[in-house]
Amino acid sequence: MHITRVELGERSYPIHLGNDIIHTFPALYRSMDLPSRAAVVTDSNVAASHLKKFSAVLTKEGIESVRIIIPPGERQKSLTRANRLYADLLNRGFTRKDALIAFGGGVVGDLAGFVAATFRRGIPFVQVPTTLLAQAESAVGGKTGVNLASLKNAVGAFYQPKFVFSDVRFLATLPRREIICGLGEVVKYGYLDETMFAFLERHLDDVLQKHLDVIQEVVLRCNAMKAKMISEDERETDPEGGRMVLNLGHTIGQALEVLSNYRLHHGEAVLIALKWELAIARQAGILAEDDFNKLLGLVSRVPFEPDLHSISASALIQQILGNNKAVRFVLPRSIGKIESSISIDKTSVLSAMKKMLGGR
Ligand SMILES: NC(=O)c1ccc[n+]([C@@H]2O[C@H](COP(=O)([O-])OP(=O)(O)OC[C@H]3O[C@@H](n4cnc5c(N)ncnc54)[C@H](O)[C@@H]3O)[C@@H](O)[C@H]2O)c1
Ligand SMILES: [Zn+2]
Repeated sequence: MHITRVELGERSYPIHLGNDIIHTFPALYRSMDLPSRAAVVTDSNVAASHLKKFSAVLTKEGIESVRIIIPPGERQKSLTRANRLYADLLNRGFTRKDALIAFGGGVVGDLAGFVAATFRRGIPFVQVPTTLLAQAESAVGGKTGVNLASLKNAVGAFYQPKFVFSDVRFLATLPRREIICGLGEVVKYGYLDETMFAFLERHLDDVLQKHLDVIQEVVLRCNAMKAKMISEDERETDPEGGRMVLNLGHTIGQALEVLSNYRLHHGEAVLIALKWELAIARQAGILAEDDFNKLLGLVSRVPFEPDLHSISASALIQQILGNNKAVRFVLPRSIGKIESSISIDKTSVLSAMKKMLGGR
């Protein structure tokens, strides 16, 4: 088992990562003096495959768990669903002396984290991520929130978990589509660091084939990189970069998610956007051809053929820019060197989009 620490003074916490480690959860939970009763928020897919075992482990060790199961999917990241969760917690008499465990992918993590941050001004919460995307990226770092109709993550809070507990064994039941989604964020980490890039060039196919030992190594490397960034820039206020570089692939990605009515999953939208943002960096002359080809080569090995027929360049530009005349992108200058806040004017973005969308 590996332990990575996120250093944030009194809000510091560990990430426990391993393969088939679920039985070690209660001892860790207890060692942190957490409440003896916790609500386990999960979605119906995760519940079907893993909740029985997880609840049994908790009960056996005297942690009382109250199960709250929501439907799966991005649409659950809403104020409506958050409201229902507040009501559930109130009905069961939850106070600040109880805890909340987010047991699922990034949707459950972001939503339950937001509810934990705001219910009675904040109750302790723990992240138990069950997707590659959530283990490698979303469960770490304390960004929680829900979407409004036209804007992703429009309402939220920075709220750190007491600990993160990642068992790659959960991924055994993860559909291939969700492994591909996870690779959207993982490839991004490859772009942020040369060593990670080389590792992924060697092992991308092992991840696709769900070799859990390789996946564990990938998650470990992503967590180490993210823990350092969070420790240095918890609230994304560093204008020189900090955790903002993690928004690579997200300026266009989040717009694509919204415009597709969430038909595209988050990780899929990031995969598309990474390619397009590379093209924008190349077109703007900040990325040399050689590096462009290498970066594009890696993301292109992820097997994903998006259906974008319902999306037009003009709608995309409107979603990204609103009334602004330029977009501030996070873009790569070379492998491992990412720059945040590069301003690209509307005309250049539009022409790049049109190229990508075959003239639409
Ligand atoms: N907070 C952050 O820093 C951060 C970072 C990146 C992404 N996000 C957010 O994360 C969300 C995407 O997360 P996601 O990709 O995990 O999506 P998700 O939570 O929707 O999970 C994907 C699908 O996999 C299913 N699933 C989960 N675990 C499973 C398992 N072990 N076996 C079988 N099925 C399983 C889920 O039911 C769902 O259908 C987006 O809302 C995105 O905005 C947040
Ligand atoms: Zn993301």
